[in-house]
Amino acid sequence: MRHLLEVDDLTPEELVAVLALARRRDLPAVLQRRGVALVFEKPSARTRNSMEMAVVQLGGHPVTIRPDEVGLDVRETVEDVTRTLACYHAVIAARVFQHSHLERMASVSPVPVVNLLSDEAHPMQALADLLTLEDAFGPLSGRTVAYVGDGNNVCRSLAIAAGMMGMQVRVASPPGYELAEADIQRIRAAGVEPQLTTEPLDAVRGADAVYTDVWASMGQEAEAAERRRAFAGFTVDTALLDAASPSAVFLHCLPAHRGEEVTAEVLEGPRSWVWPQAENRMHAARGLLAWLLGVAP
Ligand code: CP
Ligand code: NVA
Repeated sequence: MRHLLEVDDLTPEELVAVLALARRRDLPAVLQRRGVALVFEKPSARTRNSMEMAVVQLGGHPVTIRPDEVGLDVRETVEDVTRTLACYHAVIAARVFQHSHLERMASVSPVPVVNLLSDEAHPMQALADLLTLEDAFGPLSGRTVAYVGDGNNVCRSLAIAAGMMGMQVRVASPPGYELAEADIQRIRAAGVEPQLTTEPLDAVRGADAVYTDVWASMGQEAEAAERRRAFAGFTVDTALLDAASPSAVFLHCLPAHRGEEVTAEVLEGPRSWVWPQAENRMHAARGLLAWLLGVAP
């Protein structure tokens, strides 16, 4: 029995297997007459819908639990919620503020626990990102992804996932908003030395993919104005994207803030792959669930 709290909970071979399963449209109904619990401490459009539909496509029944319903460590302890949900469900997936909540879930859960985004990681997003990059380029080894923006959960999982696939990783963040040292160690352990800079142009030059995310993540709304000041010059606009490879694609996990981390022109332009990327959330979720439930690729 395995959990997915971060992409590197998989070996590189297992990651390839999950991506192969994600591409299959003929997976067995391994969730028939079974449930999957989807616990949300924060809002979600893509993650909730892609997970629910992936569960349905595998023959199962998703139960989405809203922030006010369970109350992790408020109404009941994280451990008691986990043991309860495991009585009914084949998999427990959760979007949480504190990554440690997921670790506590995994430590007592008799069924797989999946991270649907925490303060540290967003592995389900990274799986979809890899599928999208493969759709664009085929084999990823030797390709370069440039992330411009906050050294956050999305940045960390993307860098780990890309490193595991043999990609080069560059990250441009303003001073004070870089990846944490522990994240950098973890990216190195995934097989890549990330090139870190405070200059977006240095990161983007010649890259195959340019990726950004919001400047203020969920829970950081009070810092939004301060962050807008700190991230001035980090907007992915046409001029910045023009510095990437002529065949470069633009990716964004969404939701997007036009005029902040990306211009409307880039987001809606011909190099933007954000909608195929959003669709790939569902295929990635189906592949990961099938793998966790023992389907061979
Ligand atoms: N990219 C992503 O996780 O989107 P949601 O917050 O809408 O789930
Ligand atoms: N970094 C963002 C990603 C949203 C999908 C957040 O944590 O809110």
